[in-house]
Parts: sequence; structure tokens; C-alpha cells
Amino acid sequence: MNPYETDELLGQYLDFHYGAEHFGVPNYPRACVELALATHSDHRERALDLGCAVGRSTFELARTFDEVIGIDLSHRFIATADVLANTGQSDYRVREEGELFSQQTVELSALGLSDAAARAHFQQGDACALDASLGTFDLVFAGNLIDRLPDPAAFLAQLPNLVKPGGLLVISSPYTLLPEYTSPEKWIGGFVQDGRPLRMLEGLRRQLEPALELQTPTRELPFVIRETARKYQHTLAEVSLWRRPLFPST
Ligand SMILES: C[S@@+](CC[C@H](N)C(=O)[O-])C[C@H]1O[C@@H](n2cnc3c(N)ncnc32)[C@H](O)[C@@H]1O
Repeated sequence: MNPYETDELLGQYLDFHYGAEHFGVPNYPRACVELALATHSDHRERALDLGCAVGRSTFELARTFDEVIGIDLSHRFIATADVLANTGQSDYRVREEGELFSQQTVELSALGLSDAAARAHFQQGDACALDASLGTFDLVFAGNLIDRLPDPAAFLAQLPNLVKPGGLLVISSPYTLLPEYTSPEKWIGGFVQDGRPLRMLEGLRRQLEPALELQTPTRELPFVIRETARKYQHTLAEVSLWRRPLFPST
């Protein structure tokens, strides 16, 4: 079963996106969007959030974009994001200890996201086979998605055509490469090639350049996912930003 369809991960991701911060680490979907917007200050008509999970970064983008589409493979995550967009709230439960859970509620109004919700739209779909009718976007965000895909190169090949000239692609990831999600022959980095290490950032450059230009330096953003009252994942993502040139290089 896809873990992103389970009660356990639904609760964890609702808590990660909308619950309390832990150990002083800022809310990660919000921090990713703030970092992206610090670089992309110009056109804010359409944005796309790939692997949006339960929607926090989609709503955060919708604070300033006219229209934001969030896409995720998980039916449950998208159904929950839809409930949030339509009703402004969702109940969920998080594991405290063993079989003990606590009940929690997300209220978009408490996060100042009620107006943004009207500009956020969610679709269940596969980021590796995106619908050609999606159109183009001023900003495309793929948060912690690249290392959960069976074919990252196929995913990346679609991106230049989704970003408008002058627009921005933002990829964040801790590069947690796991064979259960991506078989090693499909990895684009994280291994030795011709006697030297090929890191994920270089693998991304090989896939995306010259259609998209890497904006340097890359940044690092920490995040914390709460598993139980006493167990937390504390992780460090690299955020890379890629600009589509206004005019293709000759
Ligand atoms: C590690 S979570 C990250 C979610 C969110 N962006 C965040 O940063 O909290 C990976 C997400 O990618 C989704 N996903 C996995 N494979 C996908 C695919 N082929 N197309 C779209 N979404 C996918 C999962 O359902 C899950 O919501």
C-alpha cells in the first residue's frame, strides 16, 4: 500500500503542515514558499505545487498568486486538502504513544489562509505524467518530491515547458534516496560515477540545464516531522532555484 494513503501519514502530514513547530524549527512548507518568493518578486499569476500533500505550500502560494494548482498522487491527501479548501477546517489524530492518539483540528482562518483558500485548487495526479493541458506557470514548486519518484529524470524532463519564460522552478529535497521509491538504476545522483561522486545537485543540473539556469547559492532548510510525542524526524533539505531565461541561449 502507498504509505501516503494511510491514517498514520495523513495525521503526520497534517501535523507537519498545520500543527505546532518543534525545537524552534519554522514551518517547512511556509519557509519554502517564503524563500521562493524572496527570489521571485515579479509576476504572480499562476503557481504549481507538485507533490503538495495536504496543501500547506499550495495555500501559502495562494496568499499572493491569483491561481495555484496543487497536485499529489495520494487520493487521501488530495481529498483532505479539498476539504480544507472548501470548509476551512479538518480534524485529524496524531499518535502520542503506542495505541494512544490525540485529536487535533486545522483551522485555516487561524493561519490567516481563509482568503487564499479560494485561489487554491487541488488535483490527484502523477507528477511523472502531467497533463499537457495544465498550461504554464510563473512558479513551480516541488517540495520533498524528487526522492519519492520512480523516474526522477522523466519528471524533470517535463519541467522546463511548465515554467514561463522568466519564471522560477523551486526544488527542495533532503535527497533521501531509497530503493523502495526509486530503483538505483533510475537515480540521477547520490552515487560514484567514473571514479568520482555524482551529487544530486549535479544530477539536477545535468537534467535541467541549459533550459533552466541554477540560481546560486543553493539554500538549506531544516524540517521536523513528529512521529509520536517522543520521536521526531529532524532533516535538512537543500533548496535549489532555477530560472527559465526570457530568451533561450543560442
Ligand atoms: C515526502 S512527501 C512531501 C510532501 C510535501 N511537499 C512536503 O514537503 O511536506 C512526498 C509527497 O509526494 C507525493 N508523491 C509521491 N509520488 C508522487 C507522484 N508520482 N506524483 C505526485 N505526487 C507524488 C506523496 O503522496 C507525498 O504527498
